[in-house]
Amino acid sequence: MQIFSTVAELRAFAEATRCAGHRLGLVPTMGALHAGHLQLVAAARAECDAVVATVFVNPTQFNNPDDYRLYPRLPQADTDLLAAAGCTAAFLPSAEEMYPQPALLRFDFGALERVMEGAQRPGHFNGVATVVSKLFHAARPHRAYFGQKDWQQVAIVRQLVADLSFDLEIVAFPTVREADGLAMSSRNRRLSPAARAAAPQLHQALAAAAAQVRQGVPPAQVQAQAEATLAQGPGITLEYFAVADAATLQPLAAYAPGRAVVLCLAADLGGVRLIDNVMVEDERV
Ligand code: PAF
Repeated sequence: MQIFSTVAELRAFAEATRCAGHRLGLVPTMGALHAGHLQLVAAARAECDAVVATVFVNPTQFNNPDDYRLYPRLPQADTDLLAAAGCTAAFLPSAEEMYPQPALLRFDFGALERVMEGAQRPGHFNGVATVVSKLFHAARPHRAYFGQKDWQQVAIVRQLVADLSFDLEIVAFPTVREADGLAMSSRNRRLSPAARAAAPQLHQALAAAAAQVRQGVPPAQVQAQAEATLAQGPGITLEYFAVADAATLQPLAAYAPGRAVVLCLAADLGGVRLIDNVMVEDERV
């Protein structure tokens, strides 16, 4: 596996890959890789001739300096995992390499980012869109792979691709879970034993709410029930629980035939912020 730290190296690799007539898959990550990331790499390998994974803890998408400072960084373990997973190349740039000057461009995704993560983390999706655009320009992939755990991020990246006419396909992959239902996340490494023990309640609440949605329980009632359940959960401080239209991400007043529903939450577990979601029509819920 080739390892690059400069945009110029990544560009040269992308150019050579395209000149050889090969299809390139991109797996953007912030590292501290887990089985969810490796599934994205496996999917990219199955569909593309070459795969580049990027590992970059992007400062512009953190609105909380402690979250940025404490985000796990394991470059050696990450490159070992990516090599073992069959990546063709890994890109691990510095912040100076990605941002030789502060970006002045600001993205505004309208209603898509006025809810959930966008509402709770001002500037977050501006930072995501900035770095993802930079990676798309440098790697020029045919396909880019993202996890559905970040449901809102996937919606925003799809909008970015449509609005800026990026010539690539976004592939979204289902959330990978631990045996007890906890969604895999790089932040799980930071959970204390007590917080880790409490964490499966998040998916339990989502699964219970999904069952209620299937039974036709009104959205406001589903939300209130989930909020009440999680308020009683030891070690969990719920930030939000949303019953939303899966495409527009707007809160649902009522169900509409043919419109998929997504249930999303964010919670603090002993200083570690986790998010999760389930799609009600998804049989894996
Ligand atoms: O999902 C993530 O890990 C990040 O938001 C991404 C897409 C790599 C951009 O920094």
